[in-house]
Amino acid sequence: MRIVLGVGGGIAAYKVASLLRLFTEAGHNVTVIPTEAATRFVGTATWEALSGNPVSNSVFDGVHQVNHVRLGHEADLVVIAPATADLLARAATGQAGDLLTNTLLMAHGPVLFAPAMHTEMWQHPATQANVETLRSRGAAVLEPATGRLTGADSGPGRLPEPEAIFDAAIALVQGQTDFQLPLAGRTVTISAGGTREPLDPVRFLGNRSSGKQGVALAVAARNAGATVRLLAAHMEVPPPPGVEVVPVETALQLREAALATAGDSDVFIMSAAVADFRPAVVSDTKIKKRDDSADPVITLVRNPDILQELVEVRNAAGPSGQHRLIVGFAAETGDSQGDVLAYAEAKLQRKGCDLLVVNHVGSDKVFGQDTNSVVILSRSGSGPQEASGTKAEVSAAIISRIGDELNHLALN
Ligand code: CTP
Repeated sequence: MRIVLGVGGGIAAYKVASLLRLFTEAGHNVTVIPTEAATRFVGTATWEALSGNPVSNSVFDGVHQVNHVRLGHEADLVVIAPATADLLARAATGQAGDLLTNTLLMAHGPVLFAPAMHTEMWQHPATQANVETLRSRGAAVLEPATGRLTGADSGPGRLPEPEAIFDAAIALVQGQTDFQLPLAGRTVTISAGGTREPLDPVRFLGNRSSGKQGVALAVAARNAGATVRLLAAHMEVPPPPGVEVVPVETALQLREAALATAGDSDVFIMSAAVADFRPAVVSDTKIKKRDDSADPVITLVRNPDILQELVEVRNAAGPSGQHRLIVGFAAETGDSQGDVLAYAEAKLQRKGCDLLVVNHVGSDKVFGQDTNSVVILSRSGSGPQEASGTKAEVSAAIISRIGDELNHLALN
């Protein structure tokens, strides 16, 4: 389809180069119209090279082609990103001082604004009134993402991730009314990786979790518009950009971080591989081998079950906890006593979480792999749902299911 991509004058303009790429790689013909201010952030040459189309924001370029009328008329979709406070105001008041605002007045197809600005500008009554006006006229205005802004501060006002804007734009063209990002305004805390339980200053008991699934979940939740916090135990992959990272090492540290963050989390996903046991005694000094002594014996004690505790704390919180969703993971092998799903169903009931994502594990399965196959079990009664593919695809399915469950909770 023919897309007009209007770029506003904000620092987030650089991210829109990736959005342009997503559109062109999906086969769409994109004409970029940057505002005067936008070209101070990203130059015209970048937009021309990436789109393969000429770029201008003047109504006096190519006058014989009547661009100020034609581009809006012909566009199947107009996307404005970043939609700055100034651009929203100009669009809401129907100004026509440059090619982009002319195009907005001529647009026949759907129009999507992806705002990005400082939190106070976004929350200002003037901006909110402009957003209302645009929405009342049928334009789609995404909620900005929450997180780190240009300076040291953070809050609502980040440009949603390019993938999220792309998905919302396609949903809008397909006539879906729920083009808003499914987790916009939600805070999602995800534990990821494997805990390490120290024996002495140089040794620990660990596990084979790579953290890939938790990181993929963090990316999917972030792309769905959520504010994401990653409680990161040992991981073999770096945490993704755009999420808050809380590093932890042991199960007890993870428990502390989890309990401290549970209260303001709309969704808590326990994807970390938590050690069930830890050495009863941690030596302050390196345990030495001595020829004359017997083989050392390590005594283990149980770690608290963090998932179960999160459920208890949530249930004890009364009404304020009712809309919080808790998601557990289960790694099961099945055995002669029962199959994977039977064990998982029992675990779901025992732990009391809302969703349980079940991995079928074996020596070569899941840990460190890039693909995965899971079954999602729910306590709300809906049947098991299978998801397989890359960890990114599986994560997108899990996050989408979480969005559905949150909507379900909101209705009850
Ligand atoms: N989990 C937790 N705290 C623990 C152990 C596990 O919060 N001390 C969480 C994991 O993050 C996961 C879920 O519980 O979300 C299931 O973990 P799993 O190890 O598969 O199950 P267990 O409860 O340990 O049961 P079992 O060992 O009997 O399979």
